[in-house]
Amino acid sequence: MAPLKGLILSGGKGTRLRPITHTSAKQLVPVANRPVLFYGIQAMADAGIEEVGIIIAPETGPEIQEVAGDGSKFGVRITYIVQDEPAGLAHAVLTAEPFLGASPFVMYLGDNLLQGGIQELVSAFEANAPDALILLTPVDDPENFGVAELEDGAVVRLAEKPKEPRTNLALVGVYMFTAGIHDAARAIEPSPRGELEITDAIQHLVDTGKRVEPHVVRGWWKDTGRLADMLEANRLILDVIETRVEGTLTDSVVDGRVVIEEGATLVNATVRGPAVIGAGAHLEDCYVGPYSAIGEGCVVERAEVEHSILLAGSEVRGLDGRMESSLLGRNVKIGRSTRQPRAYRFMVGDNSEIEIL
Ligand code: TTP
Repeated sequence: MAPLKGLILSGGKGTRLRPITHTSAKQLVPVANRPVLFYGIQAMADAGIEEVGIIIAPETGPEIQEVAGDGSKFGVRITYIVQDEPAGLAHAVLTAEPFLGASPFVMYLGDNLLQGGIQELVSAFEANAPDALILLTPVDDPENFGVAELEDGAVVRLAEKPKEPRTNLALVGVYMFTAGIHDAARAIEPSPRGELEITDAIQHLVDTGKRVEPHVVRGWWKDTGRLADMLEANRLILDVIETRVEGTLTDSVVDGRVVIEEGATLVNATVRGPAVIGAGAHLEDCYVGPYSAIGEGCVVERAEVEHSILLAGSEVRGLDGRMESSLLGRNVKIGRSTRQPRAYRFMVGDNSEIEIL
């Protein structure tokens, strides 16, 4: 068999994470201060995959290329593949066909996180040699996912976001395919939402007698496409970080699992982990609570922040109440005004959401 290749889908529209995705790719939103995309690339590298194709959109592609580079920092070779329009996951596979050729491949959605990586699945795929292997996990709201129906341990039916799901087994955003998926993707029609659905292509494999093997994942899986999921992914990753304090602490207290990167300065600050404080960040007269990821060069002063993600360069000053469950984009400034007349003053981008006390 030709060596296994990797395909990471990092195009798409990212509408559910607006306004962050107005200016940046959602796959670059950091989880524990690392772009979510990096976890997928790392999983491929850890499973011994050397050739990784990354599907990118024309708008956000250049930024992704700049951040992930040629893959050498992960130990893989990255080929970037532009998908002209986000016409569906099966369309992305067809776009990557010249790169994939006859190779079997792992397909990984670039905004997904899978605990424990993909090594175990690659082994199952190589041992049993099915035409496709799909990963499943039980969820509480299957109507929001691709859902699989099994009979005697085999996949018999798949449905994309069904109104009346027949099982609670959701498709995880990691799939393994042999080259037969290309013909299946060519055989299907766009769905009512106008996309070539990977679930339809897999269903086509089933309908034409191909063997599609299910594998229920043991660890957690997160699709970070919505704010709540992004915060939850941040929580799950921060829960397993190793404490490392390289910044400078003055009259400050650091408790629990905490990473404080080099060049960060803390003055009269309390950080209660799990939390990460990025390089060059400045924390003063403040409290940073559990499940916070404070990005590079951020400032938190006279404020309390908890269970939040701050992207690089953001500043939070002088808040009366605690800030929680928040996601701030890059270079956002939240502060207190001393100007007269006393008033709220906002300059906020499209689709932003602000809740005040
Ligand atoms: P989704 O999250 O399903 O789609 P989206 O990015 O368009 O997001 P939203 O629903 O918020 O508008 O996509 C899953 C992953 O696959 C994500 O990393 C984007 C990527 N993708 C592509 O690369 N090409 C595509 O055509 C589509 C639909 C998604």
